This record gives sequence, structure tokens and C-alpha cells, in this order.
Amino acid sequence: MSEASTSGNAVPLETPRRRDLLQAGMGAVALAYLGALGYPVYRYLATPAVRSRLEGQITSVAIAEKSLPAAGAATMFLFGTRPAMLIHHADGSWVAFDAVCTHLGCTVGFEPQNKRIFCPCHGGAYDMKTGDILGGPPPRALKAFKVEVSDGHVIVSRA
Ligand code: FES
Repeated sequence: MSEASTSGNAVPLETPRRRDLLQAGMGAVALAYLGALGYPVYRYLATPAVRSRLEGQITSVAIAEKSLPAAGAATMFLFGTRPAMLIHHADGSWVAFDAVCTHLGCTVGFEPQNKRIFCPCHGGAYDMKTGDILGGPPPRALKAFKVEVSDGHVIVSRA
């Protein structure tokens, strides 16, 4: 018999403690379970906001000499998390654009044989020197970056 019952006090002392501990443990498990389920949902929903904040923090990208395209060619690179394109024209000039199509966001590619930047998704075409729309559904020109050639490497920055 417990001490409580021998002294004439009939209140059981251990049962509520055990119940409280069990409830606290179940509450902790429930919280951990909700956290495990909720965190991926939070990350999924917050990703565009985080990505756009990070995009704003990156103002320039340096491209090393060994990665530079030959005259008449282009190279793809990441400007933050977005694909971008650096074109070295046959006349020696350089241009760089955000390589995300302004229609529905496909990645565009350089087509030197057709003298254009082309989006394979719906046939959007852009001018290879200005990024202006040549045809197809894109509503806006490609975003152009500023290009500086210096000491054998190229620095691409927000215009
Ligand atoms: S996504 Fe480029 S033309 Fe539609």
C-alpha cells in the first residue's frame, strides 16, 4: 500500500503524475510529428521568397578566362540561381542576358546559325545582340546584363 492510503488520505499520488508524464510525452511526440510534416511545407512555400531575396543580393558574376566562349559562340552560367547566357559575337562584342524566357520561363538557347536566341518551348525568338523580341509569344525582351572584359575574364553585372 502506498503512504497516502495508510495515513487515511485516499488521494492516489502516483497516478496523476504518470498520466501527466504520458500526456507530456505524447504532446512532445505530436509536436515533433507536426514539425516533421510542417517544415517541408514551410520550405516549399517560402522558397520563392528566399530565392528572390538571394537573387537581389547577387549583383555581379565573374567568368574566368578558361570558361569564356570563342567568338561566335555563347556559354551558359548561373547568375545567382537563374540561368544566364554570355554571347561573344563574331565582331568581338560581348552581351549577356537572363536566359529565362519571358513567356513561361523556359531556358533559352543561342542559335548562331539563325542569328537569334531561341526558346524551344513555344518558338519564342529574341535578337542575339539586344534581347528584343523577334517573334513568338514572349511578352517582353530578355533582361540584359552589363558586361565588362578585364584582364582576360568577364564580369557580368546587373545593368
Ligand atoms: S516559354 Fe518560351 S516561348 Fe513559351
